[in-house]
Amino acid sequence: MRKILILLSITVLLASVFIAGTIRIGVAFPMTGNIAAFGEMTLQGVKIAQTLYPKVLGEKIKLIVADNRSDKTEAANVVSRLIDYNHVAAIIGEIASSHSLAGGAIAERSHIPMLSPASTNPLVTQGKHYIFRACFIDPFQGHVAAIFAYKNLKAKRAVVFTDVVQDYSVGLSNFFIKDFVKMGGKVSREFYQSGDQDFSAQLTDALSKKPDVLYIPGYYPEIALMARQARQLGYTGPILAGDGAEAPQLIKIGGSAVNGVYYTSHFNASHPFTAVGKKFVAKYEAVYKTSPSALAALGFDSYLLLRDAIKRAGSADPGKIAEALRKTKNFEGATGYITIDKYGNTIKSAVVNEVKNGKFTYVTTINP
Ligand code: PHE
Repeated sequence: MRKILILLSITVLLASVFIAGTIRIGVAFPMTGNIAAFGEMTLQGVKIAQTLYPKVLGEKIKLIVADNRSDKTEAANVVSRLIDYNHVAAIIGEIASSHSLAGGAIAERSHIPMLSPASTNPLVTQGKHYIFRACFIDPFQGHVAAIFAYKNLKAKRAVVFTDVVQDYSVGLSNFFIKDFVKMGGKVSREFYQSGDQDFSAQLTDALSKKPDVLYIPGYYPEIALMARQARQLGYTGPILAGDGAEAPQLIKIGGSAVNGVYYTSHFNASHPFTAVGKKFVAKYEAVYKTSPSALAALGFDSYLLLRDAIKRAGSADPGKIAEALRKTKNFEGATGYITIDKYGNTIKSAVVNEVKNGKFTYVTTINP
């Protein structure tokens, strides 16, 4: 018994010594559930960054990954757990805007900085002091989509499909409509929910309007099914989506029906904006034997932004990290040069990609 106790206390002692030499960063992503591909891709990018830069201030960075199961309530729970139980200094997360809104409320209240790689809804950072993002926001993304639809696709009439349970989709739909109508376009609307499988009623109604483009600012599982069903109903025109379209599953589920899907995004591996971007693509391809997605690049940038902030803060104190994050200027990331403004937001270029022969192909870059 005594031996066991002694062994136990030695183990505890050793463990605490090791913990003292690490800086803990939480990662709150959807690793299972409807949009698990988002978590998987982003984590790959985070891990590439960690492999290249495992330390800061002489200490090891330890990542603690928490799965929000693609669920809003869990998105808040995992942030609580990372803060109260794992005592993280900062959090990388979340990905879906609705999850960042739920988790961000907790991080804000606890004064723990949270950096979203990919949440583009403006409300995610609005009025908050501890929430930041590594990506552009949806008024810009919607603007880019409207320009692309009107000028490049020469569309005059669009049908917009909104996922009513995703803040991302509701916001981006509205930003697109505002700009597309301002340019002279005409819009009608359809509504659905994450998890829906049958869109024939909405599509039949939509196609009766003889649209030049279907705009679907949702997530890949539903976009893929909608594309299939639209093609079955005889629609051969373009489908336009937002950043939520990009995942290998779009092509796996959508097959040839997703050829001709255009989407606005943050990055294309064939056109990296910076030298860091080129280095990231090379390293990623060496490890994963395939090209990195936009989310992988954003995950990579998020880790580096946080590490840079800790370095400049000279401390892993959460308040000091937040302060340093807010002063990020011209940081060279894989997705561009990143400046975080006083609202916690980032201003960056967008790319438009197209699914062509089952591949995400670069079309153009649109600057702010
Ligand atoms: N922008 C999406 C949101 O806010 C998240 C996302 C970004 C998904 C990039 C895929 C790629 O919900």
